[in-house]
Amino acid sequence: VSALPEGYTIRPLQRTDFDLGFLDVLRVLTHVGDVSQEEFGQRFDHMKAGAGGYHVLVILDGEGKIVGTGALIVEVKFIHQLGKVGHIEDIAVAKDQQGKKLGLRIIQALDFVAENTGCYKTILDCSEANEGFYVKCGFKRAGLEMAHYY
Ligand code: ACO
Repeated sequence: VSALPEGYTIRPLQRTDFDLGFLDVLRVLTHVGDVSQEEFGQRFDHMKAGAGGYHVLVILDGEGKIVGTGALIVEVKFIHQLGKVGHIEDIAVAKDQQGKKLGLRIIQALDFVAENTGCYKTILDCSEANEGFYVKCGFKRAGLEMAHYY
């Protein structure tokens, strides 16, 4: 059975998490930009209203600071008998908290949500450098990513 380090908790993102360092954790992943509390709240509400659902999880340390995050987007389809596909996005663990299995716990939790919301598979894109992490999480290489940037 998987467990978080003593004192750590995992839960869905809340509207008040702007104050707990949520965007700073995402900054270990990529450029976040200058997002105000109001803009964060609006995007949070927009995600809540999404069709299949946005499931953003956060891990908090013993002091209540956000140290990890990850998202599952449930895509609803016409194919596969009105099937659903899970998309894992934006996995990030604070630099000084990496290597404690927090990333693994986030993926396990998102996988659980995907299976329980009826997804027949979950997919994600990652760099070659992160392939080993996702293999440890039970994923395997499939397909090829194509991108068109604007
Ligand atoms: N390559 C190979 N193995 C790895 C890597 C890696 N890059 N990272 C971790 N692992 C291994 C660990 O050694 C561990 O193995 P073990 O069970 O044998 O001990 C296992 O994977 C689980 O590792 P965790 O401790 O859970 O990893 P961590 O909490 O450090 O999180 C993560 C990994 C999310 C990649 C983190 O390093 C991070 O935030 N990196 C910067 C942001 C990033 O690249 N995010 C992923 C983008 S892809 C996407 O979001 C879909």
